[in-house]
Amino acid sequence: MKRLNWGMIGGGKGSQIGPAHRLAAGLDGHFNFVAGALDHDPAAGRDFAQSLGISADRAYGDWREMLAGEMNRPDRIDLVTVATPNSTHYEISKAFLQAGINVLCEKPMTVTEAEAEDLVLTARAAGRICAVNYGYTGYALVRHMRAMVARGDLGRVRLVVAEFAHGHHANAADANNPRVRWRYDPAQAGVSAQFADCGIHALHMASFVTGQQVAKLSSDFASCLPERVLEDDAMVNFRMDGGAVGRLWTSSVAVGRQHGLALQIFGETGGLRWSQEQPNQLFYMPLGQRLQVIERGEGNLSPEADRASRVTVGHTEGMPLAFGNIYRDLAESFFAAQEGRTPDPAITLFPTAEDGLRSVAAIHAAVASAKAEGNWVDARPKLFR
Ligand code: NAI
Repeated sequence: MKRLNWGMIGGGKGSQIGPAHRLAAGLDGHFNFVAGALDHDPAAGRDFAQSLGISADRAYGDWREMLAGEMNRPDRIDLVTVATPNSTHYEISKAFLQAGINVLCEKPMTVTEAEAEDLVLTARAAGRICAVNYGYTGYALVRHMRAMVARGDLGRVRLVVAEFAHGHHANAADANNPRVRWRYDPAQAGVSAQFADCGIHALHMASFVTGQQVAKLSSDFASCLPERVLEDDAMVNFRMDGGAVGRLWTSSVAVGRQHGLALQIFGETGGLRWSQEQPNQLFYMPLGQRLQVIERGEGNLSPEADRASRVTVGHTEGMPLAFGNIYRDLAESFFAAQEGRTPDPAITLFPTAEDGLRSVAAIHAAVASAKAEGNWVDARPKLFR
């Protein structure tokens, strides 16, 4: 099978998400890591790229240099991952898509809804994929939850309870930590900090698992550290287009909480509970029966879960392997396109620019609702109304 060429922008030395992308892209041998503009400091980015084995001529100082350099090569990259702070995603992703290069963009995809809409339309016009890294949907048991809901194991879904609450920004002394500072700076993060950083992972997962989209929401935002302009805690109530009621709590000041992403789904005939910190077990309560613990990798799970499971039952799988499933689904789609096949929708489950747009619309709806003291606001993207 042909190998694909892969590059990354951002994700430099010491970054939070860069290492997970490198592990994930390398997992199945589909991608060669051949190009990068990895740091806001050009010299640091070049050095780090070369230390990772990228040749000097493809260890770029910035993304514009990288785009120009790659377009001059017959072996140019097939996919670029954009792992820079939020406010830069739009400009970079748009330029690469217009040049015919597929994009995997970190979340939130853009800062404004107009930009998100434009990326959806740009990707469609270019005939290229713009995926968004809701990488936690790559977990085998998250995919199994989705399959269980789709095949009716829970009956009609009544209630979704989503959480993404950690405590890593609780220390006021961290205000000038470069990895924390940009997240609360509207110029770099956009209109929302914690909801846009973490809440939308939980919200997207609720949609991914239930097959329902968020229709409207009501939110309460708080800056528990009063010097922060943007929120560090949010409670969001929502309604989904299939009738499910949603509750979501996200926080960055929940001292003692670590990663804190969890999802509970309650239907007419059963309930499910899954947590990112214990991703290899799924708790299933069929109505009127005993609690069951479903182990990742056990026999007779769904085809989606079997495919996404990478090591045998009992061995721990974690986040880079979940991200690896997003990369493999992307690779499958590229191979299918090269061979003139339609990719199998049951297996190519990566989140798309349309999902990115839905999240950006939800962010703006949540901000508007919080400003209006919790008024219910239409959360659907204007493009899809
Ligand atoms: P970070 O602050 O730890 O690292 C950012 C990296 O980007 C640094 O290496 C910095 O030098 C580089 N950079 C900044 N501007 C650049 C530019 N113009 N060109 C090239 N490199 C540039 O940030 P972190 O936490 O890694 O976040 C990056 C993105 O990933 C954000 O959009 C964030 O929301 C997202 N993220 C996603 C996660 C997920 O689970 N999907 C988890 C954490 C972050």
